[in-house]
Amino acid sequence: MDNLQRENWTSRLGFILAAAGSAVGLGNIWRFPYVAGTNGGAAFLVLYLIAIVLIGYPVMVTEMTIGRKTQKNPVGAFKSLAPDAPWWLVGALGVFTGFVILSFYSVVGGWSMAYVVKAANGFIAGTDFGEVFVGHISGVGEPLLWHATFMFLTITIIGSGVVKGIQKAVEVLMPILFVLLLILVFRAITLPGAGEGLAFYLTPDFSQITGQTFLEAIGQSFFTLSLGMGAIITYGSYLSDDDNINDNAAYVAGFDTLIAILAGFAIFPAVFALGFSPDAGPGLVFTILPAVFAEMPLGTIFGFLFFLLLTISAITSAISLLEVVVAYVVDEHQWNRKKAAWLAGIIIFIVGIPPLLGYSTLAEVNFLGMDILDTYDWISGNIFLPLGGLLTAVFAGYAWGARETVEEANKVKGAISVGAIYSFLIKYLVPIAIFIVLVTGVWETIAG
Ligand code: PFF
Repeated sequence: MDNLQRENWTSRLGFILAAAGSAVGLGNIWRFPYVAGTNGGAAFLVLYLIAIVLIGYPVMVTEMTIGRKTQKNPVGAFKSLAPDAPWWLVGALGVFTGFVILSFYSVVGGWSMAYVVKAANGFIAGTDFGEVFVGHISGVGEPLLWHATFMFLTITIIGSGVVKGIQKAVEVLMPILFVLLLILVFRAITLPGAGEGLAFYLTPDFSQITGQTFLEAIGQSFFTLSLGMGAIITYGSYLSDDDNINDNAAYVAGFDTLIAILAGFAIFPAVFALGFSPDAGPGLVFTILPAVFAEMPLGTIFGFLFFLLLTISAITSAISLLEVVVAYVVDEHQWNRKKAAWLAGIIIFIVGIPPLLGYSTLAEVNFLGMDILDTYDWISGNIFLPLGGLLTAVFAGYAWGARETVEEANKVKGAISVGAIYSFLIKYLVPIAIFIVLVTGVWETIAG
């Protein structure tokens, strides 16, 4: 497609909301609280903040810069900056990763939608919610229907375009998300007995920190900011030449962090107040919270609002995942956007069926002890995203060159301008830190 026809965000806020919508997702509301809960609460929070500033922020600036400069999808972007070297493979890896992540993200988004309905019907105290959850995910028809509904919504938004689809959706959904979260935080911290949860969340216990905590913090900072697969390159490609990058990236990273922190404030005080434990792991949101809502005054309403919040956060992230794939076929293969959204969306839906069936028909299928959904999650989150981020940093630091990248990032002046520190981070700290996370993560999973 000719660049003259390329859409641009119609406002600065529109872009920030879209990128923040991509960043804020299951990673913030489902994953962050349980990872913090099993890694010492406040102590984890400190490391996570450091990782966001030193690793997440520079990579986000880099991706936005590559996108705005080239006005292209990830594959086209690397091609146009490095026409003579195979760097476009990094973009191709990103498109592929978007495919894989969305396929299982939509399954979990479907669970979340199912729980909106369950919550509206009321969670009844005394129920074994672990059993309810397993009962739901080990079904076939119902999860499949929600997975299809979730993909249908995602496809519809992306098919409508960048401004009329993505921007319009996030302008409506992100304020709702923020207000819902504030209501839930208020409910949680005003429960009798909330203080214990606040203490857990705000008093760092540094004895809980191990090498593994550092790795968790770096990994989480990456996934939560949607880095390493070209989503931010793609959204950045709809910025125009007079849009600022460094400040925008700071807003997006800052907002994402704020939401994760607030999610902790909505969850821990409630979990403690009603006598549950914060270290339940991945089941925290689906098995512990329903029990909390069952006993909380006005729990039906708050339970409903919580799962609505979770679903909205998942949709605004899912659209950025599909957009990476769609931008690629629209730019590089001149497909019509609607057709691209539908075809890619249907294939992704199908690719999501095996992980969905991994709790029923395909329960026997395992990889290194993980079920199919965990396998998709592990390969994309622990291998593809870090690898993509690592290669993007190396590309900017050495192939395109740190000096060029800095110049391009600083082109439109704002409050922040990047320079020597950014160059140092992108050339040395980011690649080395990610490399260590990548190798250790793979080693531990295979050995353990
Ligand atoms: N940032 C999203 C979350 O925290 O849930 C996940 C994600 C979305 C990762 C988009 C990567 C991406 F491209």
